[in-house]
Amino acid sequence: MGVPHRVGVIGGGRMGAGIAHAFLSSGAHVTISEATDHAARAARERVSASLRRAQERGTLRDSVDHVTTRFRTVTTIEALSQCELIVEAVPETVALKQEVLAAAEAVAPTGVLATNTSSLSVSLIASALRRPHNLVGLHFFNPVPASELVEIVVGSTTPDSLVNLAVTWVAGLGKTSIVVKDLPGFASSRLGVALALEAMRMVEQNVASAADIDTAMTLGYRHPMGPLRTTDIVGLDVRLAIAEHLTLELGPRFAPPEILRAKIAAGELGRKTGKGFFEWK
Ligand SMILES: NC(=O)c1ccc[n+]([C@@H]2O[C@H](COP(=O)([O-])OP(=O)(O)OC[C@H]3O[C@@H](n4cnc5c(N)ncnc54)[C@H](O)[C@@H]3O)[C@@H](O)[C@H]2O)c1
Repeated sequence: MGVPHRVGVIGGGRMGAGIAHAFLSSGAHVTISEATDHAARAARERVSASLRRAQERGTLRDSVDHVTTRFRTVTTIEALSQCELIVEAVPETVALKQEVLAAAEAVAPTGVLATNTSSLSVSLIASALRRPHNLVGLHFFNPVPASELVEIVVGSTTPDSLVNLAVTWVAGLGKTSIVVKDLPGFASSRLGVALALEAMRMVEQNVASAADIDTAMTLGYRHPMGPLRTTDIVGLDVRLAIAEHLTLELGPRFAPPEILRAKIAAGELGRKTGKGFFEWK
């Protein structure tokens, strides 16, 4: 069945541009709706640059010029009225996601709606919709074109038929889906953060060096990257925010270790500042 013929993406930032790229390279017509003309131009450039990189790497089957004939950017959600699937990738606040999805369902009443939220409740977002059973979580990973995983998040009102459709579409993107209940942290953040927090506690307790703790996982458990290096890449501040959220939702086993707060206070946020648990050039 492949992917939907027409896909709308609301918000063309880092994730929205990647989601647009993924659907474009699978043959869909994609429209990104952005908040302003300036943001729409930036989204267009982000998608074009991403497609050019894919072409250079040889991972785009068609030419960039040809693919972009199926792509446009707009500044009104009304322009998404013909889309069979509309994915929102606006900043991570419930009110904003509810607002843009409510606008999308008003113009495309039969379209499927999806949220790319990484931490919010899909059921809560759906509660503001007239047809909450039209919403499913499609949690893409960054960078979307290279990532093989999509978490399909099943809200309390998401029907099985929509989950099955989402599984088909993710397969059409050439990616693998996992189906996850709408609980905090879904599967990926909950497990990834649990491992990272324990690794930090081990650094605190001088169990081993950060490099050796990571090696325990890369060589001992064949993880492609250790939890501390992954934390540096994600950003220590981002990890802290997720840990605080999961502590509130799931309990003290997600309480952030002191070393995490201390490093952030010292400006050691990971790769983006040149230092986290490791030095970055
Ligand atoms: N960055 C990641 O690694 C990552 C991974 C998975 C999921 N997510 C989730 O994806 C979502 C987007 O994250 P991002 O990193 O792409 O953010 P981003 O800030 O790069 O992009 C957000 C975009 O939304 C646009 N926007 C804001 N208000 C809008 C509106 N009313 N209408 C249309 N567009 C609007 C902004 O102009 C911006 O381009 C968030 O929910 C985030 O939690 C992020």
